[in-house]
Amino acid sequence: MQTHEIRKRFLDHFVKAGHTEVPSASVILDDPNLLFVNAGMVQFVPYFLGQRTPPYKTATSIQKCIRTPDIDEVGVTTRHNTFFQMAGNFSFGDYFKRGAIELAWTLLTTSIDDGGFGMDPERLWATVYLDDDEAAELWQEVAGLPPERIQRRGMADNYWSMGIPGPCGPCSEIYYDRGPEFGVEGGPIVNEERYLEIWNLVFMQNERGEGTSKEDFEILGPLPRKNIDTGMGVERVAFLLQGVHNVYETDLLRPIIDTTARFAPRGYDVGNHDDDVRYRVIADHSRTAAILIGDGVSPGNDGRGYVLRRLLRRVIRSAKLLGIDVPIVGELMSTVRDAMGPSYPELVNDFDRIQRIAVAEETAFNRTLTSGSRLFEDAARATKAAGTTVLSGSDAFTLHDTYGFPLELTLEMAAEAGLSVDEEGFRHLMAEQRQRAKADAAARKQAHTDLSAYRELVDTAPTEFTGFDELTSEAKILGIFVDGHRVPVVSHNGGPSPDRVELILDRTPFYAESGGQIADEGTIVGTGASVAAKAAVTDVQKIAKTLWAHRVNVESGEFVEGDTVVAAVDPRWRHGATQGHSGTHMVHAALRQVLGPNAVQAGSLNRPGYLRFDFNWQGALSESQRTDIEEVTNEAVEADYEVHSFTTELDKAKAMGAMALFGESYPDEVRVVEIGGPFSLELCGGTHVRSSAQIGPVTILGESSVGSGVRRVEAYVGLDSFRHLARERALLAGLASSLKVPSDEVPARVAQLVERLKVAEKELDKMRLANARAAAANAVAGAEIIGKVRLVAQRMAGGMSAADLRTLVADIRGKLGSDPAVVALLAEGENDTVPFVVAVNPAAQDLGLRANELVKTVGVAVNGRGGGKADLAQGSGKGAGGIDAALAALRAELGRS
Ligand code: ALA
Repeated sequence: MQTHEIRKRFLDHFVKAGHTEVPSASVILDDPNLLFVNAGMVQFVPYFLGQRTPPYKTATSIQKCIRTPDIDEVGVTTRHNTFFQMAGNFSFGDYFKRGAIELAWTLLTTSIDDGGFGMDPERLWATVYLDDDEAAELWQEVAGLPPERIQRRGMADNYWSMGIPGPCGPCSEIYYDRGPEFGVEGGPIVNEERYLEIWNLVFMQNERGEGTSKEDFEILGPLPRKNIDTGMGVERVAFLLQGVHNVYETDLLRPIIDTTARFAPRGYDVGNHDDDVRYRVIADHSRTAAILIGDGVSPGNDGRGYVLRRLLRRVIRSAKLLGIDVPIVGELMSTVRDAMGPSYPELVNDFDRIQRIAVAEETAFNRTLTSGSRLFEDAARATKAAGTTVLSGSDAFTLHDTYGFPLELTLEMAAEAGLSVDEEGFRHLMAEQRQRAKADAAARKQAHTDLSAYRELVDTAPTEFTGFDELTSEAKILGIFVDGHRVPVVSHNGGPSPDRVELILDRTPFYAESGGQIADEGTIVGTGASVAAKAAVTDVQKIAKTLWAHRVNVESGEFVEGDTVVAAVDPRWRHGATQGHSGTHMVHAALRQVLGPNAVQAGSLNRPGYLRFDFNWQGALSESQRTDIEEVTNEAVEADYEVHSFTTELDKAKAMGAMALFGESYPDEVRVVEIGGPFSLELCGGTHVRSSAQIGPVTILGESSVGSGVRRVEAYVGLDSFRHLARERALLAGLASSLKVPSDEVPARVAQLVERLKVAEKELDKMRLANARAAAANAVAGAEIIGKVRLVAQRMAGGMSAADLRTLVADIRGKLGSDPAVVALLAEGENDTVPFVVAVNPAAQDLGLRANELVKTVGVAVNGRGGGKADLAQGSGKGAGGIDAALAALRAELGRS
């Protein structure tokens, strides 16, 4: 029975029993804990957990599943697939154990003529969870299974969960006895090759939490309802019903083996076990790769992309080991499409893209495999010659770093050569490299610390810059890099984050940052097969001066090396950029006209709307120099000079008086940009306006120092210049209206107001002091006598400063005469500060009193500190609420002395 027929019978059976047919979900579901969908129930998890109400009570599906933990078993056993189709039926609180057992049993044992799978009931076995007596009894009652064909197993085998927190429950598995020629009897607990598991019925009733293994996780509690989740392995049933030796020889996989055999010098199933395993690996992995790419995964160095890359690389290497020395992946993809297409139309509809990505990975891998294998063989030979069997971590690291060999590949090759690998050493070097990469990341924008990955491209051909003549160019992708590592493809879906991707093109209209002009912005979009691909260009840098690396944010689709794309500079951006750059030349020329030839350019930067220009000059520019520079610049704009660029020999350009940056090395042939004949003549590779009027107004914002002897002018150009002026005008209008004078009277009015404010403040000060003096006079009158000392201790209101207090204290002390006296004033200062001053006259000092000691007593109560001399001390604290306590403390202190 063909696989498509098995699928159909399964779905028909359950639909007839009232189930809703639900299509397979993508193998990528939005769950960060789950790399791939690994069971039919994954798309229904929210229903099991009671988070969402299912739109149906029972459902059936055939789900695309990916399981890669057993990748090493593929091709070796009869039954391990990295991709397989799980046929399932689900009950969300509807039927439970009895229904599940009944439905499965009927489908398996109903005759082929009557729409079932026609399996001999005598060959079927079941397992149940240790204490699941109910299921064990149901198997006897419903299916008539004798007790000896019902076996009990523990958590590891008969308690199912997704391997992560979620629904779980005991399960019951159905096994098919392939017969004595496949091994000893005794049921599944003895022999899983002879007794083949075909169907798992999960009695989904609990929720699990975190855990470390299949047997160790916390059961959080029961689910809101008792559910059923089952999974029948379509490939395994096909394997049994088609009478072949293993899942790889079933009708949907066997064609891939046959395609491979057309290319290989040695055939399949001709007595070479190693070769047969390779054939089966190719069959299994090619199919998985097609499905993964179809669902949006592209080869990469981590996560899902890495799984895909590993699968494809294992295909390619297995082909090599079979003696195939031509590209084969394209053919394999066609075969997968033909076999799987009837059930998975996406493989047909999206075939060009799938094939393109797979082939690009093959091309990239082949490029490194040849040189890497050579290195591996040398290293293996040296290892053996040195009398050891362990390939060094550093060899494994070089293979990874230089040739892109995943560690698993090195491990496999080493195993084939009878060696092991120092994995710990490898991981140590990897960790070190990651550390370095982090440190380099900051510096990466300007300087690619490691150019070796680009070398091949640098050596082949430079990027042709088309941007002087056009803003849109058709181009070919020469290379794709992520974090400086070459990759065959980059995609929006699950791809690397924005600023890590670079596209290298054979030609481009994008200006790469140089000569002070920052890079163009715009888009790169795919054509033909990659028409859905779109990227925003965020930066463009030159590599080795010849290769344009476009840093992009992939917004949709995939880009594959070799693709034809359309690179388009945002015209508005470019217009602004030309204004900025031509404006810089104008300011430079004007500066030299005003300041003379000693004002030598030291650097510049321009972007749309803005420019800055650094030059050697001692001292600040005067107001009139600044105005002159602005004036000369804008006159030259107004003159609408033609901008003319040409290439000539360096010597000739210099003889013409073209200005060049000191210390910069120029090639023999240079580009000269001339604005208004003699007005401005510079060596320059930048993009410029066609005539100077296009620059628009130039407004100098300011002039400042950026180091000893280097000044900087900054300016706005074009519309930004206008906007700047408009902002200033609005500001002035606002002021004029607040001040109620015409705009041109604003400065005089403000000066006048400032003057009046000064006078008023002085007046205020005087009055405050006068008030305080009056208060002081009162204070003297109200002086208290403590022992032999007269004390004036006062709280002063009205925001007095320490200086005010000192004046007052002196005043009061004078008035108190020559008998022992102490004055202490604490003010309610600004912002809740409490300035305080203490004075002690000579007679009081003779009694042993010291201002610098008393001030400490005061300070404690207002959370402050103070100091000074014996006659006068002051300090400051915080919190006017403490003033009374401070005064009391002072009195107490005097009382004690
Ligand atoms: N979810 C169950 C399994 O994957 C049916 O085995």
